Amino acid sequence: MDWFEREKKSLIQFYRRQKVVFVKGKGCWLYDENGKKYLDLVAGIAVVAIGHSNEKFVEKVSEQLKKLVHTSNLYYTIPQIKLAEKLKEITKMDKFFFCNSGTESVEAALKISRKVTGKKKFVAFENSFHGRTMGALSITYKEKFRKPFEPLLKPVEFAKFNDVEDLRSKVDNDTAAIIIEPVQGEAGVYVASKELIGEIFDLKDRYGFLVIFDEVQTGFGRTGKWFGKDNFGVQPDIMTMAKAMGNGFPIGCVGVKDSVAEKLEVSEHASTFGGNPLACTAALAAIEVIEEQNLVENSAKVGEYFKNRLNEIKFVENARGLGLMIGAKVNVDAEDVVKRALSSGLIVNNTDERNLRFVPPLILSKEEVDYAIDILSNLN
Ligand SMILES: Cc1ncc(COP(=O)(O)O)c(C=O)c1O
Repeated sequence: MDWFEREKKSLIQFYRRQKVVFVKGKGCWLYDENGKKYLDLVAGIAVVAIGHSNEKFVEKVSEQLKKLVHTSNLYYTIPQIKLAEKLKEITKMDKFFFCNSGTESVEAALKISRKVTGKKKFVAFENSFHGRTMGALSITYKEKFRKPFEPLLKPVEFAKFNDVEDLRSKVDNDTAAIIIEPVQGEAGVYVASKELIGEIFDLKDRYGFLVIFDEVQTGFGRTGKWFGKDNFGVQPDIMTMAKAMGNGFPIGCVGVKDSVAEKLEVSEHASTFGGNPLACTAALAAIEVIEEQNLVENSAKVGEYFKNRLNEIKFVENARGLGLMIGAKVNVDAEDVVKRALSSGLIVNNTDERNLRFVPPLILSKEEVDYAIDILSNLN
């Protein structure tokens, strides 16, 4: 059975896929249709934080699946309320809205910013990635992604990442929000500077816009802290989340401060599926496992070890990042490394021709890091 041919005939060709068909996973490992195993250092793009087929996760989601999947938000459901309470504790935000993906959480954040401030302009950063729906796309930097779909949302300005002067020149009295990834993910793992984050909050005091932290990729322990913001000791007005939140079960979320929530009214935003009992149960189970297994600490510890070991590899110029969100500049063809690693049973990802990205499950052990380094060092 040729799955590659069948895919080509029946799916819109939006994706450039690696030539492998995965059929199951356990922990940090994936298995293809021939039973070959692979160490997964991509985790579905920073999603499967507690690993594949975690027992507690499977049990809790299965239980809920048998009980109740969906009712819509015309009614109250318990997992949604419990999840919001849990998020309050770990994010320190006050109120939440649930959706189904990262890009939807960004859409909600943009709408909320305009409504609450009565202003129009968004300031994002060069090399940002916030999603593919029209609003999120408007604040995503890559011209190639945006161009075919113009006209997009306006006004939007892109400031140079980590350039305080440039940011100052882009902000004005019509600015509704600045949106930032505390660590740029799709760009190739670049950490925001403390100066930049400090300046954003100084400018906020002066102009009265809202600060949005896009934590879709950096959330839930990825950077070695619960959230990217916690590396800077700041609290944004709005936070977007998705990816690791449901460990692969689609769920997204926007968290806001009370001062923001107070200005929002019934029917200004909604989602049919958002916050359904099954998705919220998945997220609660994922968060519970992150807590029980101290995965935030593991991300910090194993991430540091991984970064150091990557720097030992001959073709790695430098490895950077926070926790288990790591980018590595290489002096060989990164795409070629990805392909050769895959055939040696190692799943890695590249963000451009010279940069590899590692966003593995947060349960990754030092032994698994050694296994990966062994393969990477001996690629032929
Ligand atoms: C920072 C950030 N925001 C938003 C998104 C979009 O999320 P989704 O693909 O779930 O729509 C991504 C996806 O990579 C992301 O990294």
